[in-house]
Amino acid sequence: SSLPDDLFAAIEDLKKELNAVILVHYYQEPDIQDIADYLGDSLTLSRQAATTDADVIVFAGVHFMAETAKILNPNKLVLLPDLDAGCSMADGCPPEEFAAFKAAHPDHLVVCYVNCSAAVKAMSDIICTSSNAVDIVNQIPKDQPIIFAPDKNLGRYVSEQTGRDLVLWDGSCMIHEIFSEKKIVQLKIEHPQAEFIAHPECEAPVLRHADYIGSTKALFEYSQGSAAEQFIVATEPGILYQMEKHMPHKQFIAAPATGNCACNECPHMRLNTLEKLYLAMKNRAPEITLPEDIRIAALKPMQRMLEMSA
Ligand code: 13P
Ligand code: SF4
Repeated sequence: SSLPDDLFAAIEDLKKELNAVILVHYYQEPDIQDIADYLGDSLTLSRQAATTDADVIVFAGVHFMAETAKILNPNKLVLLPDLDAGCSMADGCPPEEFAAFKAAHPDHLVVCYVNCSAAVKAMSDIICTSSNAVDIVNQIPKDQPIIFAPDKNLGRYVSEQTGRDLVLWDGSCMIHEIFSEKKIVQLKIEHPQAEFIAHPECEAPVLRHADYIGSTKALFEYSQGSAAEQFIVATEPGILYQMEKHMPHKQFIAAPATGNCACNECPHMRLNTLEKLYLAMKNRAPEITLPEDIRIAALKPMQRMLEMSA
């Protein structure tokens, strides 16, 4: 079917017609960021999904994020512009294997990063995001052993920050693990005034050089508050669009990846396009659905997260 000339206007019309809210992660392409009702990191968007009174949630992010919105809103229609927008980290933690891992560590509390499937959430005690992981682990009694999954890089960072020994699942983000320590050090030498800021999903040799470590939103806020005028940013470059838009007088340099690859954009996030978002609203599909038993089991640790990071 042919697309309207003005997709932005057509999406606005559909939004009213459906009573829809458009939730957008910072790693989406700029056009999609521009039509967001709420733009944010994983925690901000989970909070919005938990409190919205819209009838339809259009989630411009990846599958586990839209699924999280559905866990919180069983009676709302949750649309994901491209159902194939998955996540290498979530896919790297299959529920059957995670069940065996959990069984091998009885008496452990299971803290799972929100970047996992609903089936893995259903086996968790508490969910966290990169914004609240340290704070949540700090609230757990010191003598309580903990499994942290699926990101070993965030897990190692949380372990360092809290002084806790965490049993880590061996997972990672394909985007955050490809930054080149060598090239970043080189860039820092070329830009001695620049601050280097990084997401905790990055590997330890990269984080070692960071002036500041935080979630996507925390990196954005840090760069707003800092007196520095130049930043080297190690996370998905979608956030650079917001940084440049809000701070035109500052310079933001995307941290380089290893090899010759200019591949810091998340290929899963970037499967969504403005056209697909429009079509999803027009067709009321593709829709996220979940077996009710899994949804109920996954809701408990999500609610615990929201209570613990109020
Ligand atoms: P945050 O939104 O918590 O920064 O997480 C980053 C990420 O990789 C989302 O997929
Ligand atoms: Fe998954 Fe990494 Fe992409 Fe986030 S950036 S959706 S963790 S692959």
